[in-house]
This record gives sequence, structure tokens and C-alpha cells, in this order.
Amino acid sequence: MASSDDRVAGSDTGEDCPCRDGMFDTLEANRRRFIFGAGSALGAASALALATLPARAAEKAPPGAVWYDVPEDPTKVPGRPVAGDGGYGTRSQFETAVRIRFPTPNANTSWSLTPLASLYGNITPSGLHFERHHNGIPTIDPSRHSLVVHGMVGTPKRFSMDDIKRLPSVTRRHFIECSGNGLTEWKSPKGKTVQQTHGLLSTSEWTGVLFSTLAREVGLKDGAKWVLGEGSDAAVMTRSIPLEKMLNDAMIVYGQNGEAVRPEQGYPLRLLLPGYEGNTNIKWLRRLQVSDKPFMTREETSKYTDLMADGKARIFTLDMDAKSVITFPSGDMKLPGPGIYTISGLAWSGRGRILSVDVSTDGGHLWYPARIESTPEPMCTVRFTFPWIWDGKPAILQSRCTDETGYIQPTLAQLLAIRGDHGPYASVYHLNSIQSWAVASDGGVSNVHA
Ligand code: CO
Repeated sequence: MASSDDRVAGSDTGEDCPCRDGMFDTLEANRRRFIFGAGSALGAASALALATLPARAAEKAPPGAVWYDVPEDPTKVPGRPVAGDGGYGTRSQFETAVRIRFPTPNANTSWSLTPLASLYGNITPSGLHFERHHNGIPTIDPSRHSLVVHGMVGTPKRFSMDDIKRLPSVTRRHFIECSGNGLTEWKSPKGKTVQQTHGLLSTSEWTGVLFSTLAREVGLKDGAKWVLGEGSDAAVMTRSIPLEKMLNDAMIVYGQNGEAVRPEQGYPLRLLLPGYEGNTNIKWLRRLQVSDKPFMTREETSKYTDLMADGKARIFTLDMDAKSVITFPSGDMKLPGPGIYTISGLAWSGRGRILSVDVSTDGGHLWYPARIESTPEPMCTVRFTFPWIWDGKPAILQSRCTDETGYIQPTLAQLLAIRGDHGPYASVYHLNSIQSWAVASDGGVSNVHA
């Protein structure tokens, strides 16, 4: 299992896939082989449908899909019966993109990465949203789950899920990015694919209650400045959040992309802090404690701090700075030949809207404005595109974004000048520099530092 994981998600294996011909990432084919070798967990609806299929056919279906025989001409035979899937749909059996797990030794404290190169637009399907768990995914019965709000409040209260759903709600689109996104990339280019270099980024439409609404229910005492969020996973994840942020735009979410938040994303309740580093968005939220000072938990002292060039460490670096990446073409793809291509990618900022994105095809000497394909929203990804005629010569592709504060995404050299270089993992978090993809004359695309 470990060797398969290394092959898929490992950053320094040189193994070449025999099926690297086409234009697109072929790692998924590898992943499928691994998954079916190891035996995969399928949903109840899928399992029901699979029970009627020959075992051989069932094994062909990628995760989230059911395998059906493919008729020679679909106009000559009736299709499948309506609602024959048990009432909850599956994706096409021909769609194979999956999250891949980073090969940490323990699969309970680990992370999985979103296959950014396979996505359209800027919303991430819920089943492909990246994961970061510190002690596995808890199974929680919502009828037994509640949220306690206490501490420096007028009236401490316990809210059941029904109580929370009776309150006025909002629906907003926001990205979540793990502050460790790209942690392997500080010293040298390690990840082969954009899934490996940038896959700790996902975007969803979230539905829930603003914290400010809950605050009105309990009342805040004078002097209140911080709020502890606590999860009900086996790690009891805790982070301290400035009260100002909580009152400004924090949401207590139970909806994700139109349905209940996925278990991996915090079912039944998650703290959603637009633009803040991923792990502050406490999943399986059970407690909010109001205080006059931060709680200095493990995840904000020993971890999730940033060692700087002068040897001091920054603490509570909560906003995710503006960042962008080209997802097509990107690492491990192969362009079939010279000609017209549409470069495409994602840009986002934890400090507001994306204002503009520039693209360079010569390693950052000349920059041209990209087209923004989706309406920029605060703390939400945008899709950008740029038409490119590849002449068949080696090229270095880069994107660079500017957010509405005027902040411009830095180069790696600019970032290292501030953060320093204290060892292999001295700087782990908040790598937001410009990503470079090299296109070789044979069309092969690879991760480089340029
Ligand atoms: Co931070």
C-alpha cells in the first residue's frame, strides 16, 4: 500500500508511467489500479447497484461511479430505468479523477489532495474537496450533536442542529486552502502534478448561520476579543480566532454545494472562516468559547507558525495571501504538438477579490493579462484563461495574480528573502509564490523553479 501511495502522491519517485502519451495527466490510471487492488469503500447506493453486476464489471467502476455495459449504439437500445440508481446519482463511469492521499505513515493523520487539473470552473465537487485530518473522520449522528457557545457571553447556550437551522442563514462561495499547501516546494520542485503542488485548495458554496447571529442570541461581554473553536473529532482540534473576524464574516455551516456538509468536511457542522488558513475552519464543531485572550493551543504554537529569516517565528498568520496557478497545461501532461492552446488556471486571495491575473510564457520576462472567466467574489477562487500559440520551442509558463488590496503574488525568491531558509522544513506554511511549469520541445510539462 505504501509503495502504491508513493508512486501516486510521493514527491521524489522517478517512476515513469507507461501510459504517458496523451495530453492529460495519466496518474489517475495508476490510482485506479491501486484502489481496486486494495479494495475500495463504495457508497450504499453504489453497493446496491453493484450487487446485481458481475464482479468483473463492478471492479471496472471508478470511485463514485457504477459500471454499466456500453451499447454499440445508444439509440438502438432502451437506456437504464429512471431512479434505478436508488435515488442518489453517481458520476459517469468514464470519469476517474480522485483525491490522492499524501503518504504520511499514519493514514488517520494525513491529507488528501484535490485533482485541480481535472476540474472545470472554480467550484470543487464535494467528493473531491481536499482533506486534512488529525485523527481520522468521526461518524456523528446529527440528532445527538450540538454546539455550545459559552465563556464571556451574557447567556451561555447549547444549540441543537434543529436550533441552528431555524436561524436565518446565508449562502456564500469561498475557497479553503490548507496553509501547508505546497510545503514540499520551498527548496526544489518536488510535486510532479498540480494536484501534488497545489491540491490543498478547494472551493464550495457554503450555507449556514453567521456567527454574528449566534452572538446576538447569547450576548457578548465587554472585553471579549477571541473565540476558541473546538471540533468533536478524536484530535479535538482547537484554534483561537479573533472576535473581530468572527463577527465580520464567520459562518457556522451545515450546507456544502446544496447538500449537507460531507463527513470529511465536518458533518454536521463546520466553522467557516473565509480566507483564513484551512485548519482554523474547525470541522465537526461542538464548542465556541469567548475569551479576552487567545488560548495558545498546540495547533497555533507548536504547529501552524512561520519561522522567519531572522530566526523569530510569526504566530497567528491567519489570512491566506493571494495566489494563482496554471492547471492546464501543468506538470506530468504532454502537449501533442505545436499549435493553439488555452492556458487555464485558478487564482484566489484570502484578503478579498481577485483583481487581475497575468500570464507569462517566457519565465516571467513578459506578462500579459489573462481573461477572468468567473465573477470575482471575496475570498473565492476565479478561473482564468489565456490563449497561447505554442511554437514548439521550450517555454516556461507562469501566472501571477493581484488582489483588490493591490497585493501582487510574489516570486519564490522574493518570498524566501523574507521567510529565510532554515532547513528542509523551516518554512512549511503560507507558500504563495508564482508556480513555473516548463514545456519541453517534446511537449512534456514539468515542475521547475524558474
Ligand atoms: Co499561518
